[in-house]
Amino acid sequence: GKGGFRHFMLKEIYEQPQVLGDTLHSMFNPVERTLTLPEIPFDLSAVKRVTIVACGTSFYAGSVARYWFESLARVPVDIDVASEFRYREPVMEPGGLALFISQSGETADTLAALRYCKAQGQHIVSLVNVTESSMARESDAILQTLAGPEIGVASTKAFTTQLMVLACFAVALGRARGVLSAAEEDRLSAALVEVPARASEVLNHDERIREIAEEVMHARDVLYLGRGSSYPIALEGALKLKEISYIHAEGYAAGEMKHGPIALIDEKVPVVVIAPHDSLFEKTASNVQEVVARGGKVVFFSDEHGVKKMGQNAVFTISLPTVDPFVAPILYAIPVQLLAYHIAVLKGTDVDQPRNLAKSVTVE
Ligand code: M6R
Repeated sequence: GKGGFRHFMLKEIYEQPQVLGDTLHSMFNPVERTLTLPEIPFDLSAVKRVTIVACGTSFYAGSVARYWFESLARVPVDIDVASEFRYREPVMEPGGLALFISQSGETADTLAALRYCKAQGQHIVSLVNVTESSMARESDAILQTLAGPEIGVASTKAFTTQLMVLACFAVALGRARGVLSAAEEDRLSAALVEVPARASEVLNHDERIREIAEEVMHARDVLYLGRGSSYPIALEGALKLKEISYIHAEGYAAGEMKHGPIALIDEKVPVVVIAPHDSLFEKTASNVQEVVARGGKVVFFSDEHGVKKMGQNAVFTISLPTVDPFVAPILYAIPVQLLAYHIAVLKGTDVDQPRNLAKSVTVE
């Protein structure tokens, strides 16, 4: 059942502190404070390239992972949506690692991409929520999200637990490749351990986000902006809003604004900004100034530091807990889920079963 919640989606959003903890603890040894991956039947340290393939929200999880794998493990990463991947006839050196991300493990295009990579001599790793699935069966190694069954068509807890596994995998890969110092690994592990508690704190902003939803619900178009690992969270926020509220939304890399989309900005187009106070903050903040100067209504998701710096410029600000920038994408996913949820409820759409959508897309 819905456990007293009005929709499965809201229940699943609220389950995130718990399932993030469950997922972390399946890979983290609290005594030794080290990450241990499930059995991988090949040498991780020898991997020269990682190829990530997925669809929809799972693709955005992979897009965050690309930043982590490149910056923390210094491994080259290719990523594509599964529905395009094999049509490029991608060139693959044998012995690469191909990583498929799928809540269901049954998405037709992702499965077809997996088979293509297998034929190209890649090591096949699947990150799934459903271990009794086609992708899991056809893989050399399985990584698992412990999200439990996800009923809402809009993916929420599957996404954040995918991020949790991918973050752990990035650390393990960095260690295997000898590019992470012990001190660095300690810092990253400590940041991951904090995530479940910080996720609970993020949920405390629910009521404020609902108030913001009342302002945003009348928009015809909404833009989402982010930079670095916040960019895929902007894309995910836009997808969440589209699929359940039917409002047109686009996610953009913050720096791409001035290359076109800024032409759309007026007082009728809300701009949701994902901006943890990290090394890229100042650049994103200056993009926000450009929006504000054109009368744009900015919804600014940041932390204490970031909100202070933004001052009165943004119309709506939410000050999320201060965390290590490494784990910010996991936590900033939650307010964009809540914003989409409340807008959809206010508009009276069928939140758990949005029109035209299926939970699992098993046709190409
Ligand atoms: O089961 P999968 O993770 O392979 O599904 C991929 C997409 O179909 C899925 O994430 C879809 O985009 C969701 N409706 C997003 O909320």
